Amino acid sequence: MSTILITGGAGFIGSHTARRLLAGGHRIRVLDNFDPFYAVSIKQRNVETIQDLARSDDAFELIEGDIRDPEVCARATRGVDGIIHMAALAGVRPSIAEPERYMDVNVTGTQRLLDAIRERPEVRFVFASSSSVYGGNEKVPFSEADPVDHPISPYAASKKAGELVCYTFHHLYGHPMTCLRFFTVYGPGQRPEMAIHLFSRKIEAGEEIPMFGDGLTSRDYTYVDDIVDGVVAAYEQADGYHVYNLGGSKTTTLAELIDEIARVFGKPANVRRLPMQPGDVERTWADVSRAHADLGYQPRIEVSEGLERFAAWYREEHGAGRLE
Ligand SMILES: NC(=O)c1ccc[n+]([C@@H]2O[C@H](COP(=O)([O-])OP(=O)(O)OC[C@H]3O[C@@H](n4cnc5c(N)ncnc54)[C@H](O)[C@@H]3O)[C@@H](O)[C@H]2O)c1
Repeated sequence: MSTILITGGAGFIGSHTARRLLAGGHRIRVLDNFDPFYAVSIKQRNVETIQDLARSDDAFELIEGDIRDPEVCARATRGVDGIIHMAALAGVRPSIAEPERYMDVNVTGTQRLLDAIRERPEVRFVFASSSSVYGGNEKVPFSEADPVDHPISPYAASKKAGELVCYTFHHLYGHPMTCLRFFTVYGPGQRPEMAIHLFSRKIEAGEEIPMFGDGLTSRDYTYVDDIVDGVVAAYEQADGYHVYNLGGSKTTTLAELIDEIARVFGKPANVRRLPMQPGDVERTWADVSRAHADLGYQPRIEVSEGLERFAAWYREEHGAGRLE
């Protein structure tokens, strides 16, 4: 049994990861500052669902604090075997309005956290990176060997910079270090501003859906349980420095996605076309062969099935008045 720190563990992917690792018998510590980017009540609820799973008092600990605070990082990392670093300001479009804050949290915050374990090279570290590092890459599917020197939003630049910070730290101090490039993650608990959640809310309310571009932009959507499979495998097998894509390895156009959401909710989608947004990429598509070969990673949930599961969760949470 290990003691694992999950930063950002009150958030969407972090809380799924915490529940999985707790169920696997690990001791979990969550560090999160409950950033108000979306409703804090959703994050509190996520923490409650983790707490409910903890079988003993010392199986789960919550530290409310900021990864940019060295004292908080020292306390949060004390005695841990490993760190899964999910805390970040996520979201492409808002990063254009607040680039400095994104760099501060996502880059400086990552460095502060790493500095707290400098003297302990046995502590393994998994960093949540993003498919956005591929920028406007036209070669598909995206491979880890492709150049990632042209991110097109401050968020993407901050994730690429985070990978570099991790590499340098590994080179200097030797910690096992794995950077995982997540491709659009969805499922129960998805952040409320992300497309699937936002469109579902609007379809349910009979409101217009803003569709940026011609509907032909495409994304590789990854069900959260598949992502957690990859995160756990990467944590368990951490050794050296590695970068892996974690995606569904299939693409869905925006227009197809909207049709599927309308299908699972059984209501029509009233679409309003708007111009493409700065910072948005045309496509994402993960080549997951490296993660498959090294980690045994294999995405299992198709978008149609994943959306059914999302809709079931959405109806329950919405019905109970627990969503924004
Ligand atoms: N959701 C996706 O599709 C996706 C895709 C690619 C990468 N990622 C990355 O995965 C990670 C998790 O994403 P998510 O969708 O669960 O986002 P999320 O916003 O739900 O979770 C991030 C958590 O980090 C916390 N946080 C923010 N700033 C912090 C700080 N200064 N100190 C401590 N905690 C802080 C937030 O309160 C939040 O709970 C992020 O690093 C994100 O960039 C997500």
